[in-house]
Amino acid sequence: MSLSIAFLLAMTFLISVGGLALLVWALANDQFGMGQQAAETIFAPGEVGEVEDPATPSAARAVMQNARKAAHQASDSEELFERTIADRSSRTPVLFWLSSSMIWLLLGSVFGVIASIKLHLPDWLVQEAVLTFGRIRPAHLNVVAYGWASMAGVGVGLWLIPRLFKTALVGGHYAIAGGLIWNAGLIYGTAAILAGLSDGLEWLEFPWQTDIALVIGGALAAVPLILTLIKKRVGHLYVSAWYLIAALVWFPMLFVTANIPNLFVGVDQAMLNWWFGHNVLGLWMTPLGLAAAYYFIPKIIGKPIRSYGLSLIGFWALALFYSQVGLHHLIGGPVPTWAVTISIVHSVMMVIPVIAVAVNHHMTMLGSFRLMLYSPTLRFVVLGAMMYTFASVQGSMEALRSVNTITHFTHYTVAHAHMGLYGFLSFVLFGSVYFILPRLLDWEWPHAWAISLHFWLVFVGWGIYFWPLTLGGWLQGLAMLDPARSFMESVTLTVPYLQARSVGGSLMTLGHLVFAAHFLMMVTRKGPRREGAPQLPDGRWTAKGVAS
Ligand code: HEM
Repeated sequence: MSLSIAFLLAMTFLISVGGLALLVWALANDQFGMGQQAAETIFAPGEVGEVEDPATPSAARAVMQNARKAAHQASDSEELFERTIADRSSRTPVLFWLSSSMIWLLLGSVFGVIASIKLHLPDWLVQEAVLTFGRIRPAHLNVVAYGWASMAGVGVGLWLIPRLFKTALVGGHYAIAGGLIWNAGLIYGTAAILAGLSDGLEWLEFPWQTDIALVIGGALAAVPLILTLIKKRVGHLYVSAWYLIAALVWFPMLFVTANIPNLFVGVDQAMLNWWFGHNVLGLWMTPLGLAAAYYFIPKIIGKPIRSYGLSLIGFWALALFYSQVGLHHLIGGPVPTWAVTISIVHSVMMVIPVIAVAVNHHMTMLGSFRLMLYSPTLRFVVLGAMMYTFASVQGSMEALRSVNTITHFTHYTVAHAHMGLYGFLSFVLFGSVYFILPRLLDWEWPHAWAISLHFWLVFVGWGIYFWPLTLGGWLQGLAMLDPARSFMESVTLTVPYLQARSVGGSLMTLGHLVFAAHFLMMVTRKGPRREGAPQLPDGRWTAKGVAS
């Protein structure tokens, strides 16, 4: 036991040392010295004040610009031209990672609906072992986590890299090779879980062959980040770049450590399991989502982030506090109380980066919330960012022993997981895809109504999923704690809430179908060409040879 605690603390220490090295580098390169001016790194000269959302039809964009009520000068056309080239440079790898993520999103959602129905109709689909809850549930979790969220997150990250470093993507073919290997690993791993071959640890069910594929695939996807970073043409690394770089350093450390075979067994293994299980959310998925939110919110509304200093405080507080929070999953378990207590303290301290991000996003949006009416990207990303705050504060509360006593082992936790990975990350990723594709393909989204339909299906569906399950889980927890009530009562009382979850989940899945069909129309350039190229049409661009 003490060996495993020492090991986990050492690994956590190493992560912090990595962060410290980054901090020293940042200080040496004067990354903190630019102050608020650094927030304008993502804009071309003259661009501040100009709204940008290629997913919004031009008429609505004009209304949006009016509603923004900000004067802006003519943007530096040379820099916009360079940006167009930079955007195009990442086209193939980004399309590959995003297209793959769409397929995994659909498959993962179908698994989710099946698993959900089984919880209130337990005799449904039980003839075949492959369709039993014990296989469908981990298949759902791993497919949505590593197939949808991770692949879409990397796709968005690959698109952001040239924009953040103001230079064309270098080494995109490494990312394509990485994507192929990552997909191969996922196909094998999902088939293995369905066949009953699982490592048996939550979040780590994939067999070792898939683990190796994900390590190699992920490492290859990180190569363009490093190569482009070397060639960067900006003096300052914008906060989104910090999050992306950190995510790509932290994930391999966590994933490799957690998958070393037979490192620990028994309770020690449970500790390693939850050290990974929670860190994969906070040090991999969260930075990917925040990198996108910190880029798209200011960019769409044409207003630099309110306090650049606060954005860096948020980053460093996340780096310092997150790596210890996982053990709150073992409150009440046979692990040393002090280790769990450290984790609770860190979980509560996470309120600092979360509030830093929330205040910053809110202050940036102040006066521009109306723009969400016109911009689908902004609607998804801002709601996603709000749900980040909600999910994180809720998580800090759930780590308190008094609350955890009620919520642990109930559906409340599952609702919370969908607030984070769905409400926050998936919403931000949906919005990002709507922004990115027109820029990559020089084609507009064929149907504005399909974007709205997607939004309302997933928003309403998620609401029907989250709120009833939260309430049902809480009542379930109270019933389990009440010695006067039988255990079966705590099970049966949840049935209506589980049924509501199936309705909500089905609507979300329908929304994903609309999203994927629209995505397919977009990449195959089907449907009406609504109003011409969204790529700043100007004869000079063609003359300079920007290939479409
Ligand atoms: C992108 C979409 C989704 C993401 C990222 C996601 C994420 C997750 C995560 C992280 C868990 C583990 C929860 C925990 O252990 O606490 C989970 C479990 C689950 N999810 Fe999803 N999910 C998604 C969509 C759906 C949909 C559409 C449904 C349909 C109803 C669904 C139903 C379920 C069910 C039934 C479980 C297992 C709950 C249990 O074991 O009690 N999910 N999902």
